[in-house]
Amino acid sequence: MKGIVFPNQEKYLSAQRNKPDILIAEMESFASENQVPILNWNAAELLEVLIRNSEPKRVLEIGMAIGYSSIRIARQLKKKSTLHTIEKSEVNIKLATNFINRAELTEKIQILEGDALEIMPTLKKKYDFIFLDADKQDYEKLFHYSLKLLKKDGIIFIDNLLWHGYAAARNVPLKQKKSTQIIREFNKLFLNTPSLQSTIVPVGDGVGIGIKVRK
Ligand SMILES: C[S@@+](CC[C@H](N)C(=O)[O-])C[C@H]1O[C@@H](n2cnc3c(N)ncnc32)[C@H](O)[C@@H]1O
Repeated sequence: MKGIVFPNQEKYLSAQRNKPDILIAEMESFASENQVPILNWNAAELLEVLIRNSEPKRVLEIGMAIGYSSIRIARQLKKKSTLHTIEKSEVNIKLATNFINRAELTEKIQILEGDALEIMPTLKKKYDFIFLDADKQDYEKLFHYSLKLLKKDGIIFIDNLLWHGYAAARNVPLKQKKSTQIIREFNKLFLNTPSLQSTIVPVGDGVGIGIKVRK
């Protein structure tokens, strides 16, 4: 997988990074060794800052994987705030449950097991913050469900919008053509959604950040 930041910048930023705690470091190594895609550490820091600053009471994550971003989000939440996280892979649910137990965050994080495409339409109560990080072919539908579930002034944070650099590339390998097309179409939709004030930031794999300005 290609990074979107110049290698020398990435090297510089990594060298400046404050050492993560043992659990986070272990999860990053696990993800890298087992090819589990998780949020880039730098984008995770941006997510943490936004969560800490916006003080959401209810957060929804779509795509938990091994619980890396879930733990990073939950650690920033105020005492009575909660994170609901949707995951469809049984293997990942097992791994995440173990990491979340070890992080002592079982009271803050509720795992919703199953396909977000089926679960989201059944959710009734709105959220202050939504993090979308699921299969890219599901993004458009999950984004529409997210907009319905996001409160006014709520924030949506979406990963992989520069798609390993392919979104902006002139020559895209055959294997990446379909996913790149999906992301390009999604970015147009995301940046032209009237109910959102939105932007795409070149951090990690490119994150979309939007604030709901009207219903
Ligand atoms: C990129 S990973 C999530 C990484 C995680 N947010 C992190 O940064 O630590 C995507 C995860 O979403 C799950 N997923 C993808 N599409 C989904 C869907 N429609 N419903 C539920 N889970 C989904 C996959 O099984 C995978 O574990």
